[in-house]
This record gives sequence, structure tokens and C-alpha cells, in this order.
Amino acid sequence: MTGTDRIGVGIIGAGGIAMQHGMGWNAYGDRAAVTAVADISRPRAQAFSDRFCSGAATLYDDIAALLQDPDVDAVDICLPHHLHTPAIVAAAQAGKAILSEKPMCTSLEDAATMKGALDASGVPFMMAHNQLFQPAIREALRLLGDGALGTLFYLRSMEVGQQRAISSPRANPNPDLAPGEHPMAWRFDPARMGGGEVLDTGWHGAYRLLAMAGSRPVEVTAMMGRLMHQGLPSEDSGSLTVRFENGAIGDLLTTWAFGLVENRQFEAAGEFGALTGGFNELLVQLHGYPAPARATWPDVHTFSAEIGHFLDVLQKGVAPIAGFAEGARVLQLIKGAYRSAAEGRTVTLPEDPLAAPFVAG
Ligand SMILES: NC(=O)c1ccc[n+]([C@@H]2O[C@H](COP(=O)([O-])OP(=O)(O)OC[C@H]3O[C@@H](n4cnc5c(N)ncnc54)[C@H](O)[C@@H]3O)[C@@H](O)[C@H]2O)c1
Repeated sequence: MTGTDRIGVGIIGAGGIAMQHGMGWNAYGDRAAVTAVADISRPRAQAFSDRFCSGAATLYDDIAALLQDPDVDAVDICLPHHLHTPAIVAAAQAGKAILSEKPMCTSLEDAATMKGALDASGVPFMMAHNQLFQPAIREALRLLGDGALGTLFYLRSMEVGQQRAISSPRANPNPDLAPGEHPMAWRFDPARMGGGEVLDTGWHGAYRLLAMAGSRPVEVTAMMGRLMHQGLPSEDSGSLTVRFENGAIGDLLTTWAFGLVENRQFEAAGEFGALTGGFNELLVQLHGYPAPARATWPDVHTFSAEIGHFLDVLQKGVAPIAGFAEGARVLQLIKGAYRSAAEGRTVTLPEDPLAAPFVAG
């Protein structure tokens, strides 16, 4: 799987987000091809194959069978959360390269199991942290990495939006699904969801916050609430304040209950000035300047960009923008936030990302 070899890809879970991934794979048709699709729903596997593979993909009802397919070099995991760990472990044991949707997994114990399998097999592993491919955050991370703001003092990451469909189960975006297979069904089931909004959508805001900080989170204080979607068994909103090892303070706001004016996604401030933005727009205002400089970019299909990067990892030996270590750190932060919110206390995050957050003293 190097150089010019065309990668054979197996899609595992052909639901909503797999459609975005399918567009991504087809954007790189010269370097990869989806050859197989596994889903417990044959209509969904068939629909994926028809839409993205001219109906030619080999379809499987179970994941283990796909992993035996010699035409599959890499798997793209788009499953409900509780299935990420067994799928990643089995794919690693089968020697397949792995791209996995967020969250990496739902517990620190699962992360340790996953690490054992990944280390033993040595297969490439990348987290699908697609939002890091938005042009504004890419440029912001470049500026922060170059020290453009000097010492960083403050960071904010926001992942907000009023998701009305959550409280409207009949608003089924996949009309081919049987009622029991509604794509919101597993999200209303704590055993399969593994958490609430903070683990799900908050994952994006968390990896963006950690990428901006460029430093280890050492403690978190969180509040969570079910502000709008009373039928949810979990929170629909969370606010986390994070202290980083480099002294910076960060906030993460994540919610399915409300949007904010302009829905900016991030802010950073340091000794030389501040920046803010999201998606395609970045504003930078250095200390003493009367107005920000503004940069904009055309739309980017982030799922395609992430798949292009994954192919660079496989074919050019590039380091993944987000691998196991980054995923584990996000998970530990979120686990710490849940503990903090439950106990109303600040929680310490150990240096080992697989170690459980604890309350000091
Ligand atoms: N990056 C993003 O912006 C983004 C957006 C939405 C979802 N996601 C993530 O993508 C993943 C999937 O979410 P979704 O919205 O596509 O869910 P979905 O319910 O639409 O799709 C999941 C698919 O997995 C299939 N499936 C379930 N159990 C299976 C099994 N045992 N074997 C094979 N297939 C099985 C289902 O039939 C379904 O087709 C989740 O981890 C979610 O958090 C990411």
C-alpha cells in the first residue's frame, strides 16, 4: 500500500455520514476505490454502492466478512458509537488501515483495548476529524503554530446549532429506514450512544480546542444541561472550561439547543493580539490595530479533504493530522467533563491520556 497502488476501501456502516465519505472517496478515484460495503441494512449498503460504486461494490451483512475480503486494504468506519471499538480492533487484527468516525470510542477502557490492537498490528489509524480541514481553522492553526499571537492566553471553541430534528423523530432524513432503524434511535439509547451531545458533536469542538492550544489539558470544569430536547436521555448542551499545561485557559461551548450570532467556531487571544473565525472566514486583529484583517476562502468539502489526507498517510507516509493519541486526549477531556458536571467539581486530567480523570485532594 505505497506509492501508486490504488487503495481498495471497505465502508463499514452505510448510513448518513457515509454519504459524505462516499463523495470523498470518489473525489480521489485515481488513488482509491470503494470495493466493499458492510451494513446490517442491505438496502443502505446497496444504495451506497449504487450511488458511489456504480453498483459494483461487494456487499456484506456483517463486518467480519468484509474484513476477510482481500480486495479491502483500508476500512472507513461510519458506525454508531458503541461499535467503533470492536470494529477498529477487528480491522487492526485483520491488517486493514483504518479511518474512523468520531468519537474514537466511548470509554477509556475501550481506548486501551484499541491501543493494544493498533500497537500489535501497526496498521495506520486516523480519526476522521474533518473540521480540521476547514480553511479558516487550518490558517489559524498555522498562525498559532508560528507564534503569531505570542504567548497564548485564551482559546474558545464553539460547536453550536439548534438541531430541531432531534425533538422531531418523524423528521426522518432517511425515508428508506424502517421505524426501528431511525438514525436517531441509537442516539436516544445511552448504551449505543455512549454519552450525549458533548461526546457526539462536542467531540468536534474539543479536538479544535486542543489543536489550537497545542498543549496538554490539565484540568476541566464543566456544566451540562438539557436545555431544549427534553426527550433526550442525556444533555443537549455543555460548557467546559479547560486549563492547559502552558497556562492558557480554554472554553468549549457545544449545543444542539441554540445557535449564536454568526456561529463563529473559534477565538484565540495572546500577547500580540487575537483571532476569530470559522468555516471559510478568519479575522486577525493584532494589538494596537483599529480593525481586524479579514481573509476568506471558497467552500471546502471537508470529508473529501480528510480522505485526501488519509490517502497521503497511506501512500506518502505523511503523519495523520489526528491519530490515536489525539483521539485519546479528546476522549479523556470529555470523560473529565462528564465527571466534573456530575460532581460539580474541577477534575484533573492525568498526563497518561488513558488514565481516568480524578478529583484532586
Ligand atoms: N463528522 C461529522 O460531522 C459527523 C456527522 C454525523 C455523524 N458522524 C458520526 O458518524 C458515525 C455514524 O453516524 P451516522 O449519522 O452516519 O449514523 P447512521 O445511523 O445514519 O448510520 C450508521 C449505519 O451503521 C449501520 N450499522 C449499525 N450496526 C451495524 C453493524 N453491526 N454492522 C454494520 N453496520 C451497522 C446502520 O445500519 C447504519 O446504516 C457516528 O460515529 C457519528 O458520530 C459524524
